[in-house]
Amino acid sequence: MQTKILTQTDLKIAAEILENGGLVSIPTETVYGLAANALDGEAVKKIFEAKGRPSDNPLIVHISNIKMLNQLVKEIPENARKLISEFWPGPLTVILPAKSIVPREVSAGLSTVAIRMPNHPVAIDLIDKCGFPLAAPSANLSGSPSPTSSKHVVDDLDGKIDAIIDGGKCSVGLESTVITFTTKTPRILRPGGITKDQISSVIGEVEIDPAVLEGISIGDKVESPGMKYKHYSPRSKLVLLKGSCDSYVKHINGLRGKNNMALCFDEDKENLNVKAISYGSVSDYRAQAATLFDALRKLDSYSPDVIYAHCPEPIGVGMAVYNRLIRAAGFEVIEVE
Ligand code: TXA
Ligand code: MG
Repeated sequence: MQTKILTQTDLKIAAEILENGGLVSIPTETVYGLAANALDGEAVKKIFEAKGRPSDNPLIVHISNIKMLNQLVKEIPENARKLISEFWPGPLTVILPAKSIVPREVSAGLSTVAIRMPNHPVAIDLIDKCGFPLAAPSANLSGSPSPTSSKHVVDDLDGKIDAIIDGGKCSVGLESTVITFTTKTPRILRPGGITKDQISSVIGEVEIDPAVLEGISIGDKVESPGMKYKHYSPRSKLVLLKGSCDSYVKHINGLRGKNNMALCFDEDKENLNVKAISYGSVSDYRAQAATLFDALRKLDSYSPDVIYAHCPEPIGVGMAVYNRLIRAAGFEVIEVE
């Protein structure tokens, strides 16, 4: 299959492909999505094939207006309503009980569906043009870092999907916050661009699923199937080092023999004696989020033996950055102080 590269002015072509059951990668403010008509189970199946995604991992449905939300879900709890009116359009996904119109392929057989309204003019215009919601996971090969530019999508999916809309770089740079209302207290299943503090300032109590910060064991019950899978991983081994800039640099400079590289902070970079790519300043969590996946992909392209990443602070959006990195590192953090 020849993958067409479309511009933001080609949305009519993209809408036609989607109407005919095809796949189009779309820019959003978080990461690029791989979209299909969310109401067409056969079209949605192709997403799983193109990505190599396990079929028990459900997809997020993207909408452009609240009428679409009412079409898809049975009920909207008061707290969900409050968050929606505060943070949509934006990087927040809500899990709600699904109506039967949602195909089994989208919800992977669960009784719930994940929904968000993206804050990106191209995504919103396209959904409006289609007139139906778009199911879209991140547009990467399953397991690899999510794409934050159209080049990343080409690298992973060229020849496997109908088209890619080039919408430049994604501003948030990592995936949306996923929150479920099926638990007694609303629970964050995946941290993202909207922080826990932002959420509790609107609805009060909110909890973070334990699987966000710790690994899960085989057989554990999980709230979100995505938690079971290794994610965001470069092909190279990634080791996460926790400590001050001085200790991090000293540790890496003392390593011998291997083709080591560093995923570091701006403050570390010039003192390191291995190839290093910075993912932002040590306390600039938004910059770290926006740069992380691109930096991981760049480092991976050099095929190092080990990538030594400087562990971020799990504060604010840094919680999401930390979550992606500990998953990439298999939940192992080495203290170097
Ligand atoms: O920012 C984003 O959320 C991006 C852009 C494209 O919108 N999308 C994205 O989709 O990250 P994906 O498929 O890579 O991640 C969706 C996550 C998975 O961990 C999945 O298990 C979880 O949401 N999920 C989806 N539906 C669910 C449901 N009904 N219950 C629990 N978890 C669900
Ligand atoms: Mg993904």
